Amino acid sequence: MKIALAEGIYWVGAVDWNIRDFHGYSTHRGSTYNAYLIVDDKIALIDTVKASFFNEMLGRISEVVDPSKIDYVISNHVEMDHSGSLPQMMKVAAKAKLITTEKFGEAGLKKCFHCDWPLLPVKEGSELSLGRHKLSFIPLPMLHWPDSMATYCTDASIMFCNDAFGQHFASSRRFDDEVDLAVVMQEAVKYYANILMPFSGLVLKALDRLKGVKMDIIAPSHGIIWRSHRDRIVSAYAEWAKGGGRKKVVIPYSTMWGSTEKMALAVAEGVASQNVEYALYDLAKSDRSDIIADILTSKALAVGSATLNNGMLPSSAAFLTYLRGLKPVGKIGAAFGSYGWGGGAVKVVEEELKLAGVELPVPGVSLRYVPEPGELEQCRSLGQALAARIAG
Ligand code: FEO
Repeated sequence: MKIALAEGIYWVGAVDWNIRDFHGYSTHRGSTYNAYLIVDDKIALIDTVKASFFNEMLGRISEVVDPSKIDYVISNHVEMDHSGSLPQMMKVAAKAKLITTEKFGEAGLKKCFHCDWPLLPVKEGSELSLGRHKLSFIPLPMLHWPDSMATYCTDASIMFCNDAFGQHFASSRRFDDEVDLAVVMQEAVKYYANILMPFSGLVLKALDRLKGVKMDIIAPSHGIIWRSHRDRIVSAYAEWAKGGGRKKVVIPYSTMWGSTEKMALAVAEGVASQNVEYALYDLAKSDRSDIIADILTSKALAVGSATLNNGMLPSSAAFLTYLRGLKPVGKIGAAFGSYGWGGGAVKVVEEELKLAGVELPVPGVSLRYVPEPGELEQCRSLGQALAARIAG
């Protein structure tokens, strides 16, 4: 069945129902690799799919046109989930020119595929007429790779924005008004948190730049296509990029013999005493990419670790390394943890939080061995103080 976005414009991608790990990001609901075909006097394919899904894409293209007749393949992004099928596609579409960004796409494709495909580099302001349909190209460097680009169909007002506005969400449906929007938004939050959060400043600039651009359809390279709730996803991006979030404290912790867990629960009690929402995550059992999504939409976090060899437990270390790379915007935080003799975890957690850009307005709490009920009051105070900072 052909899936049309507008007259002559089709979704020809693939659905990956069973992917559960996307370079370390958990994809509980699978994903899609969205490719789009524009059939006009000239025929253009926008992006391809992961290499193992080439035949699925080719089958969909063949339902619409003979794939060998494709004139242009547009590579909006060099990453393999979208370019992986290029070697096979460029063989089938033997006369096609490959469009990519002049600045980084050309070099990126050559380094990834060691290819001699006929490249047509484009830059800001470059345009291409396919007949009735006209395309313009909008490089979006570092959203989220240097080569990233959006392709805009000016006559149909469709923005093919590649990873931006995407979600890892497998579905038998293609459009936002055909699915449970709450679930899609949850996956969009997770996508932003784990992929785009480090580039929030650039996201704000890009949103500003696109303000006057009419977008009747926003067609990302993963998940659902936005046609009825475009404002919802665009305003959500603006909100996430600015930082902030809900009045909520996320409490990820690792525990060795249960003492740091007792402390985490006491921190949570302190947060609750201010009538502020919280969420607890044992880092040894929880999924870090889910926690990051919760942090994106919360104002504060309190991170705990028991001390191991004067440092953190490995699950806290892994989590904080991941957090540091994602550079959360506008968050406040605090650290806590138990120790037996020398201590050290709380100091290292605080250093890591600072490196992640988290402000630490509340001093950390270290407690020795198994905390007594009275000692846990320090953790309640920590939770209370952190919550009070965001409760206003
Ligand atoms: Fe979906 Fe950055 O690739």
